[in-house]
Amino acid sequence: MARIVAGVGTSHTPAIGAALDNGRAGEPYWAPVFKGYEPAKEWMAKTAPDVAIIVYNDHVNAFDFKIIPTFGLGCAAEFPIADEGWGARPVPIVEGYPELASHLIQSLVLDEFDMTIVNEMQLDHGLTVPMSLLFGQPEAWPLRVIPLAVNVVQYPAPTGHRCYMLGKAIKKAVESWDEDLKIVIFGTGGMSHQIQGPRAGLINKEFDTGFLDDLSRDPDRLVRIPPIEYLRDAGAEAIELVMWLMMRGALGDKVEEVYRFYHVPASSTAVGTIILESVN
Ligand SMILES: [Fe+2]
Repeated sequence: MARIVAGVGTSHTPAIGAALDNGRAGEPYWAPVFKGYEPAKEWMAKTAPDVAIIVYNDHVNAFDFKIIPTFGLGCAAEFPIADEGWGARPVPIVEGYPELASHLIQSLVLDEFDMTIVNEMQLDHGLTVPMSLLFGQPEAWPLRVIPLAVNVVQYPAPTGHRCYMLGKAIKKAVESWDEDLKIVIFGTGGMSHQIQGPRAGLINKEFDTGFLDDLSRDPDRLVRIPPIEYLRDAGAEAIELVMWLMMRGALGDKVEEVYRFYHVPASSTAVGTIILESVN
């Protein structure tokens, strides 16, 4: 049986990818960020999952404003890296898992989640930056990836509760796949940040800390946070945190927090990461 053994929550700040790609990771501004991810990277190498389901959002690269799926699940055999305006990031192509992705689609749609089947898409920093942070800079990624793109770019984004319930359905779908696979699920984006308007640069450390605490202590509080509260208290782009709740939902009732890192600032974001192991 396939099993989701752990979840990773992590920011996907594009400037982190640029720092890494341009050899600036050792500079005083960036060194603390990469140092904070070292234990997470070690954990990942030790855990050695077969597959990652990466919940992320596209930033108008794979999908333009013509079509914006709320939940788009990548079913392709491979996914090229998007050119976000200054050339594609120099990272390996991402290998998919079409058979498992199709199984997830079937199970999720029968469980009444209206997934969009995405047979072709390019991946942007929303997915590649978390990959770089957790797997480093290998010649080829050490596992297969199923991307799950969530619309948090154009109003209305799905609620945290909806994402959480979809996470639970993902757990059920994975456990009905008859192959021994160790799977890690990522929730990406956040934490508090706002990149435009008069409040640009807004960070709310208290909000972020409470969010990290309650992923293991009280997820029921987090799933009740309405979208407006993310925007008001933690900045317009903090709505990305609903994707962490999909990751949390996929881990079952009990989790153990095994690592956490929080750092301000990186570009104009609060960078956070957390690793939760499923103990069900
Ligand atoms: Fe983002």
